[in-house]
Amino acid sequence: MEMLRTDFKNMLRDGVGRHGLSPAELQRLGRRAERCLAELKEERAKGRCPFLNLPYQKEVVGEIKRIDKELRSWVRDFVVLGIGGSALGNIALHQALNPPYISGHENPRIHVIDTIDPDLFDGLLKSLDLKHTVFNVISKSGTTVETVAQFLIVRERLKDSLGSAYPRHIITTTDPEDGALRRLAEREGYRQLFIPKGVGGRYSVLSPVGLLSATVSGINIDELLGGAVEMDKRCQVGARHAVPLQENPAMLGACLQYLSYKRGRHITVIMPYSSALEAVGEWFCQLWAESLGKKSSLKGKVIHCGPTPVMAVGPTDQHSQLQLYMEGPFDKVITFVAVEKFKAQVEIPQSPEADFQYLSGHTLAGLMEAERGGTELALAEAGRPSYTIYLPELSAFHVGGLLYMFQVQTALAGKLFGVNPFDQPGVEAGKAHTSALLGKDRGMLSA
Ligand code: PA5
Repeated sequence: MEMLRTDFKNMLRDGVGRHGLSPAELQRLGRRAERCLAELKEERAKGRCPFLNLPYQKEVVGEIKRIDKELRSWVRDFVVLGIGGSALGNIALHQALNPPYISGHENPRIHVIDTIDPDLFDGLLKSLDLKHTVFNVISKSGTTVETVAQFLIVRERLKDSLGSAYPRHIITTTDPEDGALRRLAEREGYRQLFIPKGVGGRYSVLSPVGLLSATVSGINIDELLGGAVEMDKRCQVGARHAVPLQENPAMLGACLQYLSYKRGRHITVIMPYSSALEAVGEWFCQLWAESLGKKSSLKGKVIHCGPTPVMAVGPTDQHSQLQLYMEGPFDKVITFVAVEKFKAQVEIPQSPEADFQYLSGHTLAGLMEAERGGTELALAEAGRPSYTIYLPELSAFHVGGLLYMFQVQTALAGKLFGVNPFDQPGVEAGKAHTSALLGKDRGMLSA
């Protein structure tokens, strides 16, 4: 089955003139990226970069399916409490793969609450029948203040309405050894799932973090992981022996992005032409920003580097941000994500009005691709580089492959930029200040 393909002609000089890359410089960087790939493989063999092995966790998948089966007999609403990497992947999967307007209740409804907005949170809790609701509390550290606050509120409301039956309504997904949440789950007897050691939040979508809510919502997680396995094979292909760079889409993406940054294009726009992929775009923005935005290089030199990801969605943002991309500063590179085959075939009917007849006989999917292609051409004429990732269809297999590819691309880009893509000292600093302001030293949030 075809996984995905990248068309990058409009990143090159032939496509966009002097603002484009030369094939020779891409080839040169390809050789460096080849060494980065070799390093990544070595690290993987030594048990580092465990996110690369998530698609192969058969036992965990069995456990998740068992939990799912049991929940289906009594759960109507499944609520994820988490934030950042402990929520964005869940939202991305759910939005990409489940129908947008669900009628009937074949599967439990999924809610992913990655905020502490009081009105939203209280509104949701009031709308739920707690007897038929499960809360999946996801936190790798087990200490993130937003998630802890949500959990404390939920636990109290569950206790108030269900008494001693409440632990059945909480499932924690956390570190297998450390953290206050882990200890508390043990003590109170919640069901527990674990995030493998060394897998950080933004690389955890294919771990129990993303898989439980995905399977409960009806997504086929075997296919999802199957797509990631297929992509894993493609992301191991090197550019040696005359294999073209595009055979490894993660390596190609990392090279295109890195060279663009070095050319002063410090903003990377991700623009899916699909409403279902909007949340995948948001997920990518977090992955890219938190992994590559770093003060120090791996060698300890202060470099303050990192591309700024921006989310846009086609065609909506053609009528919003596109004017800036077309005529503003030459500081952007645009990644389009196109879906080759949408699920619905919606034809535009014949129009008796002469003004609209050019649309007759086209489908909405055809119009979507014409708009994307037209935008790409207009950008190229204005000297603005872009490339397109074509996804054959919005299936679990292809989305699994896409997410895995973006993660490998980010790990390789980290190597090209010379930074650690797996830490987030800036985020930790903010967390520490927030906790201090709330009096954590006085033990308020500890278990
Ligand atoms: O990607 C990351 O590491 C972060 O975005 C975390 O996922 C986020 O800060 C939440 O952390 P935790 O899962 O520890 O609650």
